Amino acid sequence: MSEIERQRQDTRLDRYLDFYAERTNGLQVSAVRALFSVANRPEVVSLAGGMPNIADLPRAAYGEAVSKLIRDHGIQAMQYGSGQGEPFIREKICEVMAEEGIHAHADDIVISCGSQQALDLVTRVFCDPGDIVLAEAPSYVGALGTFNAYQCQVVHVEMDDDGISPTALRQAIHTLRAAGKRIKFLYTIPNFQNPTGVTQSLARREELIAVAREEQLLIIEDNPYGLLTLDAEPMPALRAMDEDVVVYLGSFSKTFAPGFRIGWVLAPHAVREKLVLTQEAATLCPPVFSQFAIATYLDEFDWRGQIGVFRDMYRARRDAMLAGLAEHMPEGSTWTHPLGGFFVWLTLPPGLDAQAMLPRAVSARVAYVPGTAFYADGMGSRNMRLSFCFPTPERIIEGTRRLGEVLKAEQAMHATFGLADTDSPRGTLQLGPAPDIL
Ligand SMILES: Cc1ncc(COP(=O)(O)O)c(C=O)c1O
Repeated sequence: MSEIERQRQDTRLDRYLDFYAERTNGLQVSAVRALFSVANRPEVVSLAGGMPNIADLPRAAYGEAVSKLIRDHGIQAMQYGSGQGEPFIREKICEVMAEEGIHAHADDIVISCGSQQALDLVTRVFCDPGDIVLAEAPSYVGALGTFNAYQCQVVHVEMDDDGISPTALRQAIHTLRAAGKRIKFLYTIPNFQNPTGVTQSLARREELIAVAREEQLLIIEDNPYGLLTLDAEPMPALRAMDEDVVVYLGSFSKTFAPGFRIGWVLAPHAVREKLVLTQEAATLCPPVFSQFAIATYLDEFDWRGQIGVFRDMYRARRDAMLAGLAEHMPEGSTWTHPLGGFFVWLTLPPGLDAQAMLPRAVSARVAYVPGTAFYADGMGSRNMRLSFCFPTPERIIEGTRRLGEVLKAEQAMHATFGLADTDSPRGTLQLGPAPDIL
């Protein structure tokens, strides 16, 4: 082969193809991702991204506290630390979790690099390739990415306005076990679920715990939004109801700031041991400086009051979105009414396809995440996730107006050319756990 031929081949083929691990086969770049770079332009109202709005944090005062931290405790704060996480922040986290009825010991907590890494650690500890993970239908895109990276098979369990259906859950367990499948855990987001915004009712939580006990099912409870309740007091966490069947994941990303990348796992003792060893293999120790910085915030600032400030700000945005949808959505659309968190889940009139029309929506300067991103089985064509966390209320209203026009234009087009079949599975839309759409 001539040098020219070799060079030409090198530009077309991935020369490392023969060396990649099998688990990378499922990692794909999505065509939709290119659209999101456009969606982040200022003229586009992005209802796609799940970034918290942290502009209201007391940055000047906190900046001084962090300077003092470096001056007075920098030698420790900038050093390696414990693989489990620093004891003082684990103590503080017990206080945070008490807000949702959890009584925990600091010794049972493992600090992670955001709850995203907690998901990775838990999956690494429990799952072999081919194992089944049960998850709500739909579920968090970042978790689906992690389960996919470890070659797990995700089986979705139907949910309604009160959360995951215990009857469907029991049925799925029996069917899968009868077929000889190994179910490793149920992954659930009980509060203001990402992507639907749905909250599990108290009765559902009790039923879910009962199913887990009877069926020997481990529950992974992912709860980054729990304290961002907009209408009522926080519900008791599943972990507050049972400490043996629940592994709990928490995060400071939504109640403080995501840039520190600090989350945690609260697990039964034996599991905790495995998580610490896995964390040490992955990172030696979670970021020490971030732990000091967050502990400083919790010690010296009114973090409960700040959550109140966030709640007021997100409530105004949630209300703007619900008002905008009521005014601008065409007949036949329905949507959830979240009691907290960041997201509304929109179901389009029959025949409209959220993924197919995304390029037209972005041209009309409004963006969303198509529902297919939140299913491992190709469902979700008639759905989209709309985030109300980041744009101002005025921009949210304008975004829903633009979206309404796009939907009406789609309907007019379908009236001419016929309806698409949006109730059958599609190829899955793999967006991966990237920060712009979490
Ligand atoms: C349900 C859910 N779990 C986990 C995460 C990851 O959060 P972090 O890694 O920032 O703690 C997110 C982020 O959006 C989320 O929505």
